[in-house]
Amino acid sequence: HEEFTKVKNIATIELGRYEIETWYFSPFPAEYSDSLKLYFCEFCLNFMKRKEQLQRHMKKCDLKHPPGDEIYRSGTLSMFEVDGKKNRVYGQNLCYLAKLFLDHKTLYYDVDLFLFYVLCECDDRGCHMVGYFSKEKQSEESYNLACILTLPPYQRKGYGKFLIAFSYELSKKEGKVGTPERPLSDLGLLSYRGYWTRVLLDILKKHKGNISIKELSDMTAIKADDILTTLQSLELIQYRKGQHVICADPKVLDRHLKAAGRGGLEVDVSKLIWTPYK
Ligand code: COA
Ligand code: NA
Repeated sequence: HEEFTKVKNIATIELGRYEIETWYFSPFPAEYSDSLKLYFCEFCLNFMKRKEQLQRHMKKCDLKHPPGDEIYRSGTLSMFEVDGKKNRVYGQNLCYLAKLFLDHKTLYYDVDLFLFYVLCECDDRGCHMVGYFSKEKQSEESYNLACILTLPPYQRKGYGKFLIAFSYELSKKEGKVGTPERPLSDLGLLSYRGYWTRVLLDILKKHKGNISIKELSDMTAIKADDILTTLQSLELIQYRKGQHVICADPKVLDRHLKAAGRGGLEVDVSKLIWTPYK
């Protein structure tokens, strides 16, 4: 589509206490697209062309966290679930913002069909967005995540793996397996590969006796295909007598685990208060 070939217009945004350089084009409404910089309200995500407009807005905006339900709180970390149908403008604003850091995703104008899980660091001034993922309310393809973003000032601190882990915790509560929507970006794939490797190899290390891909899938809510490709890419799968056999030599597993990077921030499932969307 046309938006792929367009050049980046908005070069920086102001969001909360951060000024952030953007990465990609985002199709903001025409009246904003000649701006080099946009000013976002960090709570309602409304955006403005001038700093004075934002300052005026901040005096009257009474949001101190994303609109929607707080479904997780652990220490200073909170997760809010925002229904795109109930908070359409917020959902659209979030998509405009996210597209600035997403290359090949098409923007979802129909935010009604999505739930947005917005991760925040909270202090006495409010809950400050760190990142988010979106999820289709109904997915025929068993997608449990559509878009994922950690805002650049917060990247590489383990929030991405937290968001990924969270998406699988929701799938477990639904009693379903899930997989992220494709295509994944390079950074997205790296994060998923790291997450899958860590989760699967931690289980293989502890497990005694045989274990099947199906069993791994039931335990983790990771789709069987993703388990297979992960283990194959680590050369942990052999095909013997018409069957997949998983190699679980502890030394080999430890070597892969080291290479998979850090575990990321932990999701404390006991702090997740949530029932699946109906
Ligand atoms: N260079 C190299 N590896 C990187 C990296 C970078 N700049 N950023 C992330 N990674 C890899 C690392 O393996 C990292 O694990 P490690 O830090 O233990 O080595 C792993 O990804 C995840 O790191 P984490 O800190 O948990 O993730 P994050 O908070 O930085 O978020 C994304 C990861 C993908 C959400 C983030 O990069 C992002 O928002 N990118 C832009 C949007 C996007 O591409 N989304 C995915 C497409 S749907
Ligand atoms: Na990390």
